[in-house]
Amino acid sequence: MGTFTSFSHSTFSLAIYLLLFAVSVRARPATFLQDFKITWSDSHIRQIGGGKAIQLILDQTSGCGFASKSQYLFGRVSMKIKLIPGDSAGTVTAFYMNSDTDNVRDELDFEFLGNRSGQPYTVQTNVYAHGKGDREQRINLWFDPAAEYHTYSILWNHHHVVFSIDEVPIRVYKNNEAKGLPFPKFQPMGVYSTLWEADDWATRGGLEKIDWSKAPFYAYYMDFDIEGCAAPGQASCASNPNNWWEGPAYQQLNAVQAERYRWVRMNHMIYDYCTDKSRYPVTPPECIYGI
Ligand SMILES: *[C@@H]1O[C@H](CO)[C@@H](O)[C@H](O)[C@H]1NC(C)=O
Repeated sequence: MGTFTSFSHSTFSLAIYLLLFAVSVRARPATFLQDFKITWSDSHIRQIGGGKAIQLILDQTSGCGFASKSQYLFGRVSMKIKLIPGDSAGTVTAFYMNSDTDNVRDELDFEFLGNRSGQPYTVQTNVYAHGKGDREQRINLWFDPAAEYHTYSILWNHHHVVFSIDEVPIRVYKNNEAKGLPFPKFQPMGVYSTLWEADDWATRGGLEKIDWSKAPFYAYYMDFDIEGCAAPGQASCASNPNNWWEGPAYQQLNAVQAERYRWVRMNHMIYDYCTDKSRYPVTPPECIYGI
């Protein structure tokens, strides 16, 4: 009887242990409020589905924004986003990481530039390393980003930064420190998102104005997933080569990813600072070294 009791007791503890372990492993994606806070206009961000998703609202009184509670040094952040449907010209939805430092800013940007109904949404990306940005690239999306959710992610490790949409890499910024080029490595970055009006530049260079008769405009986010080294946190985390995002599979694009990346660049890229001779008569060095 005694044996039986202790057996069932330890089986029970083991079951509890496994359950807790499974719960902690399955903790991602998080709810909005676990990792984020509203930074601009509470009244324009609504939680839906018990905080598993949010609705961002833009109207004539305000846009809105949110930010992660922590900053991170390396890792991967991804979210599912459903952009403003129909006539979204003049609106900008942004999803980015930023070190929040003035002089030596590091920043990794996704900006979604709205358009008139039926015309393609443009995604602009930019990379700031040690205070220097001006590295814009633009692609037109190959699907309607307002029809359903798509996954947008930024992978950042010691080897490169990769912007992806639904597992398709759309931009790679390689660590070329060995060749003297800056790479964001020293400063943790927060994760941010905003929805606002920018009809002085967003759509066709500012020619297309926002149509307020279509307001309010709504964008939706869900599956908030940040996996990285939170800062402040364990100091040794960022340099730990055992972090999954530093693993061999994430150190360079594999053949399938490289093929998809080429496909995007050949078929969907509409602007690349690398080939803009009027801005850069001398091709910036990071454009030459490839992926
Ligand atoms: C909007 O659509 C026009 C016409 O297809 C296209 O030239 C432009 O790149 C699109 N995007 C933006 C942000 O203007």
